[in-house]
Amino acid sequence: MSEQPLRCSGAIRPEEENLYDRRILEEVKLEEWAKVVFDPTLSVDDPGEGLFIRPLRRSDYNKGFLQLLGQLTSVGDVTEDQFRETFKKMKSSPDTYFVTVIEDVNTGDVIGTTTLFIEQKFIRGCARRARIEDVVVNDKYRGKQLGKFLVIVLVLLAKSLGCYKISLDCRDTMIPFYESLGFSKEPQNGNFLKSQKKNA
Ligand SMILES: CC(C)(COP(=O)(O)OP(=O)(O)OC[C@H]1O[C@@H](n2cnc3c(N)ncnc32)[C@H](O)[C@@H]1OP(=O)(O)O)[C@@H](O)C(=O)NCCC(=O)NCCS
Repeated sequence: MSEQPLRCSGAIRPEEENLYDRRILEEVKLEEWAKVVFDPTLSVDDPGEGLFIRPLRRSDYNKGFLQLLGQLTSVGDVTEDQFRETFKKMKSSPDTYFVTVIEDVNTGDVIGTTTLFIEQKFIRGCARRARIEDVVVNDKYRGKQLGKFLVIVLVLLAKSLGCYKISLDCRDTMIPFYESLGFSKEPQNGNFLKSQKKNA
């Protein structure tokens, strides 16, 4: 399903503005992923009946995006203005934030999301590394391969953008899920340290 942006007087409506150019998602070919088999087959063009994968939009505040994130962690009271300001900040850093969602086009709800964050480095000849963050599928849609699909799409996207390393942090209970998608603990580097002190 290729995207048909809604137009108003010849311009894309601001509320339909994508965080990044969807054409780079369209170039992701799941056939390239040899290790994981989807049954039935899923693709960016067809992630499942009535579903559409796309970049986050400004209008997603009203499509249950934050409520979905609430199934992952605490979101807090985020106003529409705060949401739009954050969207604007992310968009003003091109090639950095790839917040990607799956929409159920029948209900208009965002039912799955994950984020690819790309960090520009000086090392390795000014290379870029990728982190996958905030993977969540609405509990009513789980078990349909969508979590797996979202992660693999973003892994392939990171590879196509030339990232030398793709990593994520997760709870112990989630390790088998990510191992099944080709992630592994880095030998002798399995320590995740986080600041405990408020002002540290
Ligand atoms: C984790 C999550 C995204 C998986 O989404 P999903 O769409 O139900 O997952 P899929 O249908 O793609 O499952 C793919 C495989 O992973 C397995 N799997 C799913 N959730 C799992 C979990 N919590 N632990 C281990 N394996 C899991 C499935 O059994 C399935 O295995 P199979 O291919 O052998 O049948 C979803 O359960 C969720 O949103 N959880 C709450 C938020 C969360 O914990 N996110 C992860 C943060 S690190």
